[in-house]
Amino acid sequence: MMRIIYCALLAFILHQALGDEYNLFGDAGQAYSVEVNIGHPPQKFYLLVDTGSTTLAVASHARQGGKSYFKANQSSSIQDSHKQVQAKYSQGMWIGQLATDFVQFPSLANVPAVRSNLALITESHKFFMNGSGWQGLLGLAYLPVGAWGENVVVDSWMDSVDRSLAVPKSFQLKLCGVKSTTNATHYGSFQMIDDQNPNRNSNRSYRTPVLRKRWYEVGVISVRALTDLVPINASLNNTNETIVEVKDFNDEMCLKLNEEKSIVDSGTTNIRLPEIVFGEIVGEIRNAARMTNVLISDEFWYHGEAGCWPEPQMWSLPSIAIDLLSADANDQYFTLEIPAQNYMRVVTASTEVGAISEFCYKLGLEAGSETVLGYTAMEGLEVLFNRSAGWIGWQTSNCGSNARITGPYNASKSLVDTCQLRRPVSETAVSIKAAQWALCGVSIIAGGVLVYLLAPCVKALCKKPIRTQQISLSQTALFEQES
Ligand SMILES: *[C@@H]1O[C@H](CO)[C@@H](O)[C@H](O)[C@H]1NC(C)=O
Ligand SMILES: *[C@@H]1O[C@H](CO)[C@@H](O)[C@H](O)[C@H]1NC(C)=O
Ligand SMILES: *[C@@H]1O[C@H](CO)[C@@H](O)[C@H](O)[C@H]1NC(C)=O
Ligand SMILES: *[C@@H]1O[C@H](CO)[C@@H](O)[C@H](O)[C@H]1NC(C)=O
Ligand SMILES: *[C@@H]1O[C@H](CO)[C@@H](O)[C@H](O)[C@H]1NC(C)=O
Ligand SMILES: *[C@@H]1O[C@H](CO)[C@@H](O)[C@H](O)[C@H]1NC(C)=O
Ligand SMILES: *[C@@H]1O[C@H](CO)[C@@H](O)[C@H](O)[C@H]1NC(C)=O
Ligand SMILES: *[C@@H]1O[C@H](CO)[C@@H](O)[C@H](O)[C@H]1NC(C)=O
Ligand SMILES: *[C@@H]1O[C@H](CO)[C@@H](O)[C@H](O)[C@H]1NC(C)=O
Repeated sequence: MMRIIYCALLAFILHQALGDEYNLFGDAGQAYSVEVNIGHPPQKFYLLVDTGSTTLAVASHARQGGKSYFKANQSSSIQDSHKQVQAKYSQGMWIGQLATDFVQFPSLANVPAVRSNLALITESHKFFMNGSGWQGLLGLAYLPVGAWGENVVVDSWMDSVDRSLAVPKSFQLKLCGVKSTTNATHYGSFQMIDDQNPNRNSNRSYRTPVLRKRWYEVGVISVRALTDLVPINASLNNTNETIVEVKDFNDEMCLKLNEEKSIVDSGTTNIRLPEIVFGEIVGEIRNAARMTNVLISDEFWYHGEAGCWPEPQMWSLPSIAIDLLSADANDQYFTLEIPAQNYMRVVTASTEVGAISEFCYKLGLEAGSETVLGYTAMEGLEVLFNRSAGWIGWQTSNCGSNARITGPYNASKSLVDTCQLRRPVSETAVSIKAAQWALCGVSIIAGGVLVYLLAPCVKALCKKPIRTQQISLSQTALFEQES
């Protein structure tokens, strides 16, 4: 009982301290979710904010480890279409009923309650995480990657909002990462932005075009570890607007990165890179880590295992540079500099009195066949998704890590041509294939990001973290040294 009160108090303090500006929260290792009210009378849930899919989907069946779900027969405004829809992803799937009901986000004052399509999940496999703080997804991408059903088109919540307001809206994600080194709960803000309303952040905005309106598909020119302090031959003096010719990027890497597609996906945790690129970058970071005398096992670098230490780590490892095609010219790009604080992700931070304290990290990079800029690449930045105009704007933000953006830089030739960024896609093939993969991003979260399954509270503070065999060897080594 005391624990519950303590947790509630903490949650309250957290809310007070961070203020109303922040409406996204997530437990350690989980993505960011936002509070929503669905139906009449409203039923409250948390939806994972996912730019990697399109459909609003909510649990509507009782399931193991998740007590909260939408009770359709308790909403007087629900309209069930009696049509089945589904979404499959690499490691799991869900099946649901397509319905419409009123959807309202209490933290979005400028968006009214709208009647929106929603998928009521009745069956799922490896979709919900045990003990996750969310009960569904808010898909924010384009229609072609919506849930799939026979003879139905599943509208997105964003489309419903645009229709209801009769103007297209953009949205912005400001993800801040963990609150502190000893507090693994992370927070951020999700806002809907009017074209009229000027941006409050006066920092320079760098725009990358959305190449195809399915997922948020962007052109990733290269991804590299910044082992030198001055990454490329370029002036970082922004007061002087000269754009400096830089050393030529690697054509092969660029082709490889965009071979399948490159997407910006807030529903994925890690930065996923083609095998070769992943190997190169991790190799460099690992070498840099060796120099700093921090013991880290290969399981950490290459097998997604957690590394734990008795005290929080201040990483002095190279940043990762992600070069993105600029929307201003085909031969221009800009660079996101993602610091170690982002990609050495905190998964547990506990300082328990009378017990061994434990600070666990996981590498925010992984190998795969395509390029996915998960939220590890977004923390410390403000990212504006201009859905209708088809571009994504990146700015440095006032919260989170000190991620930087530099550029724009000119290349000697068209990046669009060299990297073959404007491959046409046949529309019919897309809508079906895309739907199959709509939730691909989420699978990463569902597929075992967590070492510790946390209750929907600041559990690290309330309860001893569950010890698993996944704690890496480096920790054992360190503990032995200490004692
Ligand atoms: C976690 O963050 C909240 C909000 O800033 C703060 O009130 C709380 O004390 C933090 N917990 C620890 C252990 O630092
Ligand atoms: C999920 O949680 C329940 C109860 O909290 C537990 O019995 C079950 O073993 C857990 N499942 C997994 C896969 O961890
Ligand atoms: C409402 O639906 C739930 C299952 O979702 C069922 O258990 C319950 O009996 C239903 N209640 C009514 C009044 O139909
Ligand atoms: C979206 O892009 C269009 C065209 O570039 C622009 O007019 C509009 O202001 C943008 N919206 C936001 C919120 O920046
Ligand atoms: C960039 O490289 C050129 C030669 O390749 C050199 O002359 C120039 O000084 C360099 N500029 C900076 C800012 O390092
Ligand atoms: C930027 O350039 C201006 C003018 O060339 C110079 O006065 C200023 O010192 C430079 N700032 C930095 C940080 O290099
Ligand atoms: C930028 O700096 C260069 C040399 O430092 C100078 O020749 C050029 O005029 C400057 N450009 C602007 C727009 O200030
Ligand atoms: C870079 O590209 C822009 C737009 O194409 C052009 O105006 C500018 O002169 C270029 N700068 C350099 C140094 O080549
Ligand atoms: C602009 O970016 C800097 C970091 O580069 C940050 O300290 C500052 O708070 C940002 N301003 C806003 C309004 O986000």
